[in-house]
Amino acid sequence: MPVETIAWKNSRIRYIDQTLLPGRVKFVDCASVPKLWRAIKRLEIRGAPAIGIAGALGAALAANNSKAKDSRALIRDLRRDIKYLASSRPTAVNLFWALAKMECAAEENVYKPVAAIKKLLLNEALKILADDKRSCRTMARYGAGLVAGGDTILTHCNAGGLATADYGTALGVLFESKRLGKRIKVYADETRPLLQGARLTAWELLHEGIDTTLICDNMAASLMAKGKVDKIFVGADRIAANGDAANKIGTYSLAVLAKHHGVPFYVVAPVSTFDLNLKTGRDIPIEERDANEVRTVMGKMVAPKNVKVYNPAFDVTPNELITAIVTEKGIFRAPYARSLKRLVKRL
Ligand code: MRU
Repeated sequence: MPVETIAWKNSRIRYIDQTLLPGRVKFVDCASVPKLWRAIKRLEIRGAPAIGIAGALGAALAANNSKAKDSRALIRDLRRDIKYLASSRPTAVNLFWALAKMECAAEENVYKPVAAIKKLLLNEALKILADDKRSCRTMARYGAGLVAGGDTILTHCNAGGLATADYGTALGVLFESKRLGKRIKVYADETRPLLQGARLTAWELLHEGIDTTLICDNMAASLMAKGKVDKIFVGADRIAANGDAANKIGTYSLAVLAKHHGVPFYVVAPVSTFDLNLKTGRDIPIEERDANEVRTVMGKMVAPKNVKVYNPAFDVTPNELITAIVTEKGIFRAPYARSLKRLVKRL
């Protein structure tokens, strides 16, 4: 991947501001929880696994910044900041998964001195980051087994290194395929309204030397009708127990198109993206974002300022449209309600 997405450096969170890419590569050192909250909200840090890692490092930062003199007061401060960070974005379950892990780690060690709890929270966050790196590589290996030399692959949004700590999920599969010497071509959806595909995915794929063609989101149907797409690989922000998968708005329409044209549709996601407490995708909270994201393109108003807007950031792809879900614990296929029970056993 071209850059390190997020890291812990000198008691601060260092991240690349993704809103400025690809024009500007700017690293930000974040020393406060409100600043981190804003970075997640504004999509300076984005992508489900990266948001989870940011949450974990944010909890470590919160503990580090706390002036509490005893462990109970420290945990009170931590809970307050965890609750605040959890309000930044609602859909990617990785955020809540990571924050819960951090809270649990603190509570289990409440009998330890403040300094020891601070240290172990940082270690827990760094472990979440390191585990994500490993998961990316494993998913990439499993997923590359689904790719044949000569395939043309379509992807949506950005499920690459910028959305994770390392290689990405869906894009990791493509990077690994390339590394294995498979000749692939990739179509990247631009991904309106915030253009993660045009700005981030195209940048990452070109950096890896992958033959990449950018399309507007409304061009995918015509490509598929011409038989120009062999497979679709996307990431996910939350997957329910029946395999329904929430991902960037526009993913569902790709899955419907894929079914119509007989194109295999793969979701690639680590286990931190599964919310097996939710029976179906209907229960997944979908973030609605500011209307001006649709009225503008890269900050420039392109619609009447007072036009009404509908701006859900994600949609849910029903499990029956998903050919397989690739995780670091293996590849799962329909019927997902049954196959994902195997995933629970492997956790
Ligand atoms: O709004 P974003 O940019 O955070 O949405 C990101 C996506 O929808 C990604 O496809 C998803 O998080 C998978 S990331 C590996």
